[in-house]
Amino acid sequence: MDELSTSPYQFRRTQSCRVTNKGNLGTIASLTFSQKQALNLSWRLLKPQASTCFRKIFLELEIASPKVKQIFYKAALVDAFNKDEDNSATMEVHIKLTTKFFDELLSTLDDENEFVAKIRGIGSAHAILAKGSNFSSDIWERLGEIAMERVCSHEVVTKTREASRAWRTLIAILIDELRGGFEGELRQHRKSSSTDQIEMGKVEDEEELHAKLQQLRMDYNHTLPYT
Ligand code: HEM
Repeated sequence: MDELSTSPYQFRRTQSCRVTNKGNLGTIASLTFSQKQALNLSWRLLKPQASTCFRKIFLELEIASPKVKQIFYKAALVDAFNKDEDNSATMEVHIKLTTKFFDELLSTLDDENEFVAKIRGIGSAHAILAKGSNFSSDIWERLGEIAMERVCSHEVVTKTREASRAWRTLIAILIDELRGGFEGELRQHRKSSSTDQIEMGKVEDEEELHAKLQQLRMDYNHTLPYT
C-alpha cells in the first residue's frame, strides 16, 4: 500500500497554507498538551518513513515548480566538483536536512521564540538564491500545499483528530515563517544596499562573497537543459 496516497483524509490543492498562525489555525503556543503529545508520537512513527515521504514531497515540488528543479540541478552539478559534503545542497541532502529539521522543531514546541527563530533562520538562508536562481516566495507556498497534502493524509497522522489538527497547524506556521524569514532577509538586503552608503564596502564584500558562492554553486546555466 502506498502509505502516502491512500488515506481517506485528502487535502485539496486549493486549501491554502495562508490560513496560518495569524488566521484560524492557531499558534504553537495554542497547541494543547495532548496535541503536542500527538505530534511527537506521530513523528516517532513517521520518522522511519521520512526519507520516502520528503523525497516524494521534493519531487512533487520539482514538478509543480520548474525553478526548483533547476536549483537542485545546479546544486547537484556543483556537488560533482565539490567534495565538501557539509556544504552541499542537493535534493538528497535536503531530504536528510528536512528530517533533522523536524527533529529539532519538535524538540522546541515549548519555546515558541526558539521554534520561530529556527524556521526563520532557514527561510533567510535561502534568500541568497533569489538573485542568481530566481527562488521566490511562491516556492514556499507550493511546498506548503504539497507537504500539507502528503503529511496530513498519512495514516499515522489521520489516526487521531489531535494529530491531524496539530500537523496542519505545524505545517501552516512552518510555511508562514519560512516565507517570513526569506522575505525579511531580502528586504534587509535591499534596504542596506540602497540606503546605507557608508556600509557600501561591506555590502560589496558580501556581494563579492555571494558572487563567488554563486560562481561555485550556480554558474552552470549554460549546461542546464532548461532556459
Ligand atoms: C523545509 C524545506 C527546506 C529546508 C529544511 C532547507 C534547509 C536548508 C539548509 C539548512 C541549508 C543550508 C543553509 C546555510 O547555508 O546555512 C539550505 C541551503 C540550500 N537550500 Fe534548502 N531547505 C529547504 C527548502 C529548499 C528548497 C525548496 C530548495 C530548492 C529550490 C532549496 C535549495 C537550497 C539550496 C540550493 C541551498 C544552498 C544555498 C547556498 O548556496 O548557500 N532548499 N537549505
